[in-house]
Amino acid sequence: MSDIKTIAVLTSGGDAPGMNAAIRAVVRTAVAGGMNVKGVMRGYTGLLGGEFIDLSRRSVSDIARLGGTIIYTARCPEFMTQEGPAKAARILKDAGIDGLIVIGGDGSFRGAQALAANGANVIGIPGTIDLDIGCTDYTIGFDTAVNTAVSAIDNIKDTSMSHERCSIIEVMGRNAGYIALWCEIANGADGILIPEKDEFDEQDLIDNILSNRKKGKTHHIIINAEGIGNSTRLAKRIENATGIETRATVLGHIQRGGTPSAKDRVYAATMGAYAVDLLAGGARNRIIAYKDGKFTDFPIDEALKMKKTIDEYQFMISRLIAMY
Ligand code: ADP
Ligand code: F6P
Repeated sequence: MSDIKTIAVLTSGGDAPGMNAAIRAVVRTAVAGGMNVKGVMRGYTGLLGGEFIDLSRRSVSDIARLGGTIIYTARCPEFMTQEGPAKAARILKDAGIDGLIVIGGDGSFRGAQALAANGANVIGIPGTIDLDIGCTDYTIGFDTAVNTAVSAIDNIKDTSMSHERCSIIEVMGRNAGYIALWCEIANGADGILIPEKDEFDEQDLIDNILSNRKKGKTHHIIINAEGIGNSTRLAKRIENATGIETRATVLGHIQRGGTPSAKDRVYAATMGAYAVDLLAGGARNRIIAYKDGKFTDFPIDEALKMKKTIDEYQFMISRLIAMY
């Protein structure tokens, strides 16, 4: 066991629904274990500015149901310099912080790795709607974001059907196609464009729309992951090639907000408590994961070497069951 007395928590990178549930679990597990907890405002930017607040049991009351993050988040270019993490490690030491919990995506974990290289003790919790972290099958926020996107696509389908149109729907995910893939399986679509399969053939897509129309299909849905490119221009090209009125909708940041799903609250809370247990047990520089049905953890260096690829079986069946 370690003699950890004070820990800190920050959120970094894009916010994700469920981050607050993780913060609440961190605070309450740590306080129950006799530790003090500081919140670092605005991710690494706030860390470099020494923006600490005290977090008590009561200060995190009733936040599990809130989207966003009560301690704010940021992207911090200074952290990508050599001096940034070195300065941050000194700030943590001077503030008497024995362990830092970083809730964020793989970029944030690279920052955590740099902090660890400067002597800090950091535990990472995967928080991103993109589901693009190699070591884990679950990231905080994906479940809520994909449910938001699926429900938005249901709405678009209604109007697409009424007008007998083709609708291109652009979902988030940066360079990862997981939100798009899940939407395709959940909603059905004439085509899906994801960065992992960027060899897609636009003519095939057009032929598929035309062949479905011939078979009697009266509306068409194309799901486009943002990493692939401009949906409005794609809509114009499809309209010109097929003669079918085509509209593009970019779902954007509505996917990042909103009430976290029960799964996101429960998994995020479990990871928050797990992070504190790791620190209390003397662990150093680990990333928490949900892998093969279990909560687990990996050394940061090992976790960051793991690559996320699209699930080939899911991709294959997504195409098969979408056939008209
Ligand atoms: P996410 O954590 O969601 O992937 P970003 O990629 O934007 O989001 O990363 C969040 C922050 O993490 C960046 O703004 C930067 O402060 C820090 N970060 C990202 N990459 C590195 C890196 N290679 N070294 C140090 N810090 C990094
Ligand atoms: O990483 C989460 C994410 O929402 C990505 O899906 C998207 O590419 C990016 O963040 C958008 O970032 P911003 O909020 O800075 O526009």
